[in-house]
Amino acid sequence: MNVFDLLEDDTRPRAPPIPQATAADRMAGKRLAMIHAMHIDALDETKAMMLKVEAGELDAGTLATKIETLDMMRNYVRFGNLCGRECEFLNYHHSAEDGDIFPVILAGANDGLKAVIQRLMQEHDVIHELLLTLSKNVAALLADPGAETFAQAKETFCLIDRVVRSHFGYEQTELEEALGFYRAL
Ligand SMILES: [Fe+2]
Ligand SMILES: [Fe+2]
Repeated sequence: MNVFDLLEDDTRPRAPPIPQATAADRMAGKRLAMIHAMHIDALDETKAMMLKVEAGELDAGTLATKIETLDMMRNYVRFGNLCGRECEFLNYHHSAEDGDIFPVILAGANDGLKAVIQRLMQEHDVIHELLLTLSKNVAALLADPGAETFAQAKETFCLIDRVVRSHFGYEQTELEEALGFYRAL
């Protein structure tokens, strides 16, 4: 599986409905969407800082100066720190799903639901690789804040931003019933 498979929603297996699931189960399952929303907020905040850096670079370009202002340097570092926080935050979330949540569902799941969990775990592997790359990009950016190191981190961050949003949407939709029904969350 590669990064772009995470953007191909029609290749993802769908969870069979659980007829015995109650409205209360589905309500409980919606908590995952709330957790995801916190991560989305963090991604949005990081993206806003990224746009601020880009605007600063444009300004510097129009002034035809190569001097990186103190303000720009600070924003490069801020973006790097936000990306670093993202890496930890998402790693923690996926570890909790892989280690605590998915095993509970798998213990009772039928083949259809198992296929969804397997797919989600494969997606976690792909995202984990991207997070490792971002973590390296962040180290380079913080060691030498500038246009080049920023561009690298930005590229990885934008990819993560796209695939994580897609992953969240799939996961929270397909697992909504199962999370509550199997008391996994
Ligand atoms: Fe996940
Ligand atoms: Fe998740």
